[in-house]
Amino acid sequence: MSDSFVWWKHGVIYQIYPRSFMDSSGDGIGDLQGVIDRLDYLEQLGIDAIWLSPIFPSPMADFGYDVSDYCDIHPLFGDLETFDRLLADAHARQIKIVLDYVPNHSSDQHPWFFESRASRDNPKADWYIWRDAKPDGGPPNNWLACFGGRAWEWDETRQQYYLHSFLKEQPDLNWQNPGVERAMLDVIRFWMDRGVDGLRMDVIFYIAKHPDLLDNPAKPSSLAGRAMGEYDTQEHIYDLNWPGVIQPLVSKIRRVLDQYEDRAAIGETYLMDPALLTPYYGEKLDGLHLPFNFTLLHQPWNAQAFRAAIQRYYDALPPGGWPTFVLGSHDEHRFATRYGPDNARAAIMLLLTLWGTPTLYYADELGMQDVPIPPGKEQDPHGLRVPGLGLGRDPERTPMQWDASPNAGFCPAGVEPWLPVSDDYQQVNVAAQAHDPTSTLNYTRALLRLRRDLPVLHGEGMFAFVDGLPGDVLAYTRARDGVRALVVLNYGAQDHTLDLSALGASAAVLINTTQDRAGSLDLAALSVRPHEGLLLRG
Ligand code: GLC
Repeated sequence: MSDSFVWWKHGVIYQIYPRSFMDSSGDGIGDLQGVIDRLDYLEQLGIDAIWLSPIFPSPMADFGYDVSDYCDIHPLFGDLETFDRLLADAHARQIKIVLDYVPNHSSDQHPWFFESRASRDNPKADWYIWRDAKPDGGPPNNWLACFGGRAWEWDETRQQYYLHSFLKEQPDLNWQNPGVERAMLDVIRFWMDRGVDGLRMDVIFYIAKHPDLLDNPAKPSSLAGRAMGEYDTQEHIYDLNWPGVIQPLVSKIRRVLDQYEDRAAIGETYLMDPALLTPYYGEKLDGLHLPFNFTLLHQPWNAQAFRAAIQRYYDALPPGGWPTFVLGSHDEHRFATRYGPDNARAAIMLLLTLWGTPTLYYADELGMQDVPIPPGKEQDPHGLRVPGLGLGRDPERTPMQWDASPNAGFCPAGVEPWLPVSDDYQQVNVAAQAHDPTSTLNYTRALLRLRRDLPVLHGEGMFAFVDGLPGDVLAYTRARDGVRALVVLNYGAQDHTLDLSALGASAAVLINTTQDRAGSLDLAALSVRPHEGLLLRG
C-alpha cells in the first residue's frame, strides 16, 4: 500500500532567505523575480515546497520580521503581481509556496501601532501590550528582550510602556484582543485566497504569554550568561509558551487554513524539550501540522548525542503527530560550519532519510559554510545590539553562489551585495557543482530523487535504530511494503568495519556521500570510511 503524496508530510521544504537568493533588479538585494528566474534550478534540485522568509513591506529593522503591512509586498522584492507570477510558475512545476507569517509582533511603523500609541482610548489602544509603569517609574515586570535589554519601551504620548519581545521596533501584538485576532486571521485569508500553500508562523510560541505578565524567575547562576547573554539569566516561563494559551489560538489559525484545500500550518516552535511541542499539534491534531523541531540543532556532531535526541523526539510525538527536522536556517550557523565541512554530506543524508519532513536551507545543498563578515559590514540587529557573543546571523545569510562571475552571479558586477559573497565562490557555486558529478549539489539532487522515488524514505516507513555499533556510528533502518532502507553514518574520522549480518547477508548501495560505491555490500563486514554516509537497500 502506498499512501498518496501529501506535500507537507512526504515532501521536502526548501527555505529561501529572499534578500540573499537572487537579485534580478541589480540593487544588491535578492527579490521575487530572482526566485522566479531560478525556479528551474529548484525544480531540478527536486524540492517540493519553498518557504520564503518575509517579503512584506517593512522598515527592515529585523530584515522583514518587522512587518508594516501584512497584505502587500515590499518594493525591494517586487509587488503583488510579481508574487502572483511566482506562485503560478511554482505551481506549474508542482512546487508549493509557504509564506512567513509573523503573528507575535508587527513593526512599530505599522498603522495599527501608530493608532495604538496615539492615545489610551482609541479603538486600537489595546491591540498591543501596554502597561503602566511601576510606582518607581520602572517597567511593569522583569522581562527581557531576546535581542538585548529589557522587553519594555516607554512611550511619551501614552505615558505607558509597551512590550517588545524582540527589538523595540517590533511591538508585541495583543492576541487576547478580539480585534487583533480577527485582523490577523484575515491576513491568513488574504494569502490563502491568493493560493499560498502554507504558513511558517514566526515565533508562534511567543504569542502565549501568561495573562498576568508575571516576573520570570532567575536562572540558576551556573547557567547564567550562556549563549544568549543577559537573556539567558532568566527562565522564560511567563513570557512565552504559557500552557493553555497557545492551543486555542493555534486551533483558530488552523481552522482558517482548513477552509482551503491542502494548506499547511507550520510553526517556529523553538523549544528544546520535545515534550513541549505536543500542545502545538493540538489535542485532536487540530493545531499545527508541523511544529518545527530544532532539537538536533545544538547537538554536537556525535552519533550518540544525535541518537538520543532523535529517540527523545520520536518518543514525545503525540499519536498521529507527523515529525519534522531542521538542521539549518537563517538564524543558525550553517551546518557545514557547525559540524565541519567533512560532515556536511552525512548531515544532508541524515536530514533527508530520517522519518519526517525535512527543511533544507538554501545553499546547504552546496555544502556552503558560514561567511566571516568583516567589521563594518555586519547587518543583523541581534549581533549589533548584543555584541561580543557571536550572535550575529549574517554569516549564514550571505548571497547564494550561482557561478564564478563577479558577485557569484547573485547580483551584477560592480554592485555591492547587501552582505559579502564568500571568498570561495569561484569553487563553491551552482554552475561548477552542476558539472561535477561528485559535487555536494549532485549528491543532494541524487538523494532528493531517491527520497521522492522510494516511499520507504518519504512515507510512514517504520524507523528503527541499529544497536551494538561503535560509538562513532549511527545506523537506522526504514521499512515499508517489504522494502528496507539502511542508513549508516560515520560521525568520526576513523574507518570501521561493522557486522550487520543480523540485518541480512548483503545490501545494495543506493548512494554514499562520496558517490563512489556501487553494487552489493557484504553486511557481515561492512566498511565505513571516515565521515561517510551510506544509504543501502535490502
Ligand atoms: C524568528 C525569526 C528570526 C527573527 C525573530 C523575530 O526567530 O526566525 O529571524 O529575528 O523571529 O521575529
